[in-house]
Amino acid sequence: MRPLAVTQFLGLISLTVAMDNGLLKTPPMGWMAWERFRCDVDCHDDPENCISEDLFRDMADRLVEDGWRELGYEYVIIDDCWMSKLRDEQGRLQPEPTRFPGGIAKLARYIHDRGLKLGIYADMGTLTCMGFPGTTLDKIEIDAQTFATWGVDYLKFDGCYSNPVEQMLGYPLMSKALNATGRLMAYSCSWPAYLGGLPPEVNYTLLGDICHLWRNYDDIQDSWDSVQGIIDWFSNNQDHLQPAAGPGRWNDPDMLIIGNFGLSVDQAHSQMALWAIMAAPLIMSNDLRNLDNRARAILQNKVVIAINQDPLGIQGRRLLQERNRIEVYWRPLSQSASTLVFLSRRTDMPYLYHTSLAKLNYEAGNYEAYDVFTGSTVTGLNATTEIVLSINPSGVVMWYIYPEQSKQTETLHYQHKKTSRFTFL
Ligand SMILES: *[C@@H]1O[C@H](CO)[C@@H](O)[C@H](O)[C@H]1NC(C)=O
Ligand SMILES: *[C@@H]1O[C@H](CO)[C@@H](O)[C@H](O)[C@H]1NC(C)=O
Ligand SMILES: *[C@@H]1O[C@H](CO)[C@@H](O)[C@H](O)[C@H]1NC(C)=O
Repeated sequence: MRPLAVTQFLGLISLTVAMDNGLLKTPPMGWMAWERFRCDVDCHDDPENCISEDLFRDMADRLVEDGWRELGYEYVIIDDCWMSKLRDEQGRLQPEPTRFPGGIAKLARYIHDRGLKLGIYADMGTLTCMGFPGTTLDKIEIDAQTFATWGVDYLKFDGCYSNPVEQMLGYPLMSKALNATGRLMAYSCSWPAYLGGLPPEVNYTLLGDICHLWRNYDDIQDSWDSVQGIIDWFSNNQDHLQPAAGPGRWNDPDMLIIGNFGLSVDQAHSQMALWAIMAAPLIMSNDLRNLDNRARAILQNKVVIAINQDPLGIQGRRLLQERNRIEVYWRPLSQSASTLVFLSRRTDMPYLYHTSLAKLNYEAGNYEAYDVFTGSTVTGLNATTEIVLSINPSGVVMWYIYPEQSKQTETLHYQHKKTSRFTFL
């Protein structure tokens, strides 16, 4: 098909396609298998860690019993390698029977019974990235229907083994097909990552119309290098990416790797803080059965979660890259509040950084700041007060800042639990 014809076709379907079905007004939170458990299908030698219904049931149990669900972590998301290599006689995808003997519908019931939601993975193309059956254009409707029948709540739609023309047709068609099932499903599109992530190849207006979130860039790996590379790419391209985000439409810099092997405690603070600045999905990929208390405390920090989940849904930006290798990030929040993250890219020692709110574009007035990871409060700030912060190498200082006069009533909205609007301070 000629590109012109594709564009015309898209113009027609985009009139009827929309993912504005009320889901994901704040970024999704939950757990996903990929970064930690990859394509481990060896249930014989590695039964605890292989991709199987047991793994997802274990994680659902942990989300409920260890306090995650109450904080908003609600999606349990299957990634690649869940499928049988063959579709069934009716052409439907089916799970690999030895690893998912109960089937996906039963797993969905288990997850729903615990107040959680189930996500699943498919691939726009002839094969998934790991070589399982793909969703070619002619299979989009049947696969959407299958997921709806099973009770799936979220689809991650990858893009291996397809070309840009097929993707331009397939991603909007899947949006339409999910909608046509009548079941509310969140839709995560890997499309932009396959197009280099930037305009003019990527049309973020269109993506926002058809997807709830999208992967823009490379897969995260279990290392600080990988986290830094992602922060750099999103910040260097923030003029394109930041305006694309908003309630129901999110950039996705990929999973939280906190609790695995690659990050120090300071680096884990940095990932959590920057993901809150970026209004990123908080989708962990770690082993919730074996999480140390420091990782748990970071991932369960209510203030950083509330900042991430701020109802205005405005993505933040990098404000400054100083020559001394301190970077400053800012995100505006509801109720005249905002957050500042000071990230050190240094490798020597804690750095004493001098600044003021005026230097960071704050207006005259009196402010208070709550230090998100230490729990201390700084009072009596005005725009010109000299601020001196000690920032650890590859660590952050994260401030939640609000006008002083509003401190009596200051609350952070907490979206996921109707009753859990918690009083700040
Ligand atoms: C389908 O799309 C329409 C129009 O955006 C929306 O109102 C409706 O909620 C959607 N339904 C589902 C099941 O996604
Ligand atoms: C991007 O998509 C939107 C919505 O479909 C459309 O109105 C707009 O013309 C597209 N922009 C470009 C540059 O193609
Ligand atoms: C701002 O606060 C500093 C002390 O931090 C004080 O010396 C200064 O007078 C204040 N300025 C204004 C305009 O209130």
